[in-house]
Amino acid sequence: APSATRCEAAVASTYQETSGTVDLDWDNLGFGLVPTDFMYVMKCSSDGKFTGGELKHFGPIELSPSSGVLNYGQGLFEGLKAYRKEDGSILLFRPEENALRLRMGAERMCMPAPTVQQFVDAVKLTVLANRRWVPPTGKGSLYIRPLLMGSGAVLGLAPAPEYTFLIFVSPVGTYFKEGLAPINLIVEHDFHRATRGGTGGVKTIGNYASVLKAQKIAKEKGYSDVLYLDSVEKKYLEEVSSCNIFIVKGNVISTPALKGTILPGITRKSIIDVARGHGFEVREQLISVEELLEADEVFCTGTAVVVSPVGSITYRGKRVAYGNCGVGVVSKQLYSIITSLQMGLVEDTMGWTVRL
Ligand code: COI
Repeated sequence: APSATRCEAAVASTYQETSGTVDLDWDNLGFGLVPTDFMYVMKCSSDGKFTGGELKHFGPIELSPSSGVLNYGQGLFEGLKAYRKEDGSILLFRPEENALRLRMGAERMCMPAPTVQQFVDAVKLTVLANRRWVPPTGKGSLYIRPLLMGSGAVLGLAPAPEYTFLIFVSPVGTYFKEGLAPINLIVEHDFHRATRGGTGGVKTIGNYASVLKAQKIAKEKGYSDVLYLDSVEKKYLEEVSSCNIFIVKGNVISTPALKGTILPGITRKSIIDVARGHGFEVREQLISVEELLEADEVFCTGTAVVVSPVGSITYRGKRVAYGNCGVGVVSKQLYSIITSLQMGLVEDTMGWTVRL
């Protein structure tokens, strides 16, 4: 892997370093796009090999109206974050896991994908080129959004003849408008996010477009987001539009097992390991709505949402509140452990962080 200094040299030699401080209200970052200096673009043609990746100034891209991604949704995305430490260094969290997940998704979507090394190097380069946009310690993070898309032209339904891998970044704060306060979810019983044999288990762009309607209706009713049930029995928890779900009962923490309909979250996986390491019993299994409503605590996990406590769940008109709508002790403990690791406040004994 290129060292931070080699990356920096590449950035400095190719582009005049964009210097100067950024005039941003760091205390009020939400989760909206703040355009930054550079994006990374790498193409791959029919030989399946990605080459010639480079930084470009952030801005619109040229795309055929007939591209596979625009016409047939042949596209995947990823999400990861960079945090600034007190000493000025920057930390990435498990970027190789995103690379592996992208490769898994690419296989499902009939796309070639960058190697793990190419992915991680490109992420490092993009973050370093945009380092002035990494929020100060404690003010948020730089959200990194890698995209893989069928950029070549098609007309009949077929894999595109050319692919583009692109990374852009944006400084972000908390995902939900509630900030760190608990969110209120509604269990959806008409719409489903995924079904067996579908693409629920990969991060394809279509999975997110298809939940917009349910999410819009829920938000109009004042809920933060929607919790989906399985599409067969309409009884077992799947996930929220943008994150995974966990329930806590005593010393047992449960989350729906990955059976192809649930997005294999990297925060999900990390929280499972962290919780086991702290003496909790963690089960990946079917979780019924009844168990959800009887839980002591409920929380969501995701790169964007980190660990978000759930204050209430509404199911068929019945509202159940958790912990007097406060932040549950287990959610709070796990949030604190994972963010301390991500921000480099504690020693990383897991080897999860990558320092730039
Ligand atoms: C993330 O958490 O990084 C995601 O990709 C979810 C997205 C809807 C913001």
